[in-house]
Amino acid sequence: MRTPLIAGNWKMHKTPREAKAWLAAFQPLLSSTPHDHVDLLLGVPATHLLAMRDDARDLGVALAGQDLSQHDQGAYTGEVSGSMLADAGASHVIVGHSERRAYHAETDAIVAAKVQAARRHGLVAILCIGEQERDRDAGQAENVVLNQLRAALEGLDAWLAHEVVIAYEPVWAIGTGRTATAEDAQAMCAAIRTDLRTRHGNLADEIRILYGGSMNPGNVASLLAQSDIDGGLIGGASLDPEAFLALTQAAQEHAS
Ligand code: PGA
Repeated sequence: MRTPLIAGNWKMHKTPREAKAWLAAFQPLLSSTPHDHVDLLLGVPATHLLAMRDDARDLGVALAGQDLSQHDQGAYTGEVSGSMLADAGASHVIVGHSERRAYHAETDAIVAAKVQAARRHGLVAILCIGEQERDRDAGQAENVVLNQLRAALEGLDAWLAHEVVIAYEPVWAIGTGRTATAEDAQAMCAAIRTDLRTRHGNLADEIRILYGGSMNPGNVASLLAQSDIDGGLIGGASLDPEAFLALTQAAQEHAS
């Protein structure tokens, strides 16, 4: 049984001070609710990691960067390396989010290099893949998603690949309030797992596959009820501690 992972993606929201206030508000909510069957994580701006590290650790909430450089160090003004994230308290890093692909021209090759950089620095990569609406309309959604998957894991040691988390995020569902149906999300996550199995054998059963795209307290239960959906990557609803708690509770109920 894969432990569900409820992962927030705060994107470019909140200051470090507001992040600490979020944790302070979440603490009493979480402590009064069973959550031993759920893993919790917040993907936050790199500037927030040090400020959040101790309080997050006390709560048992892991921290993730939202991006990293494919390079280990050097003359790359503005970039943040995997070792910087790890040293500042991140255990994970989001890689290849559709907003990075769209607004920062991240190609499959760059995403693959970033997955490798994450692994070099001991960070679990949360690899985001997902089709555009036009791909789905053209009946190409699965092709697009599996091509992104294969490209991103290319060259990664088969044993390391199972330490990656996959986030299936249909681009048209991100931040739009439109969620994929539970059946469509399950079908894609099952296709991803089948593809992983062809290259990684039974390790595929250990890899967590998240759904992302307007997941919220109202739709989380039906998504988690799907056999190949092991949690969520949640943007908007993760900004509110009470909504994040509701997602946590749904995952706990599902797993226990
Ligand atoms: P959303 O974002 O939950 O606001 O749709 C998800 C994501 O971009 O990871």
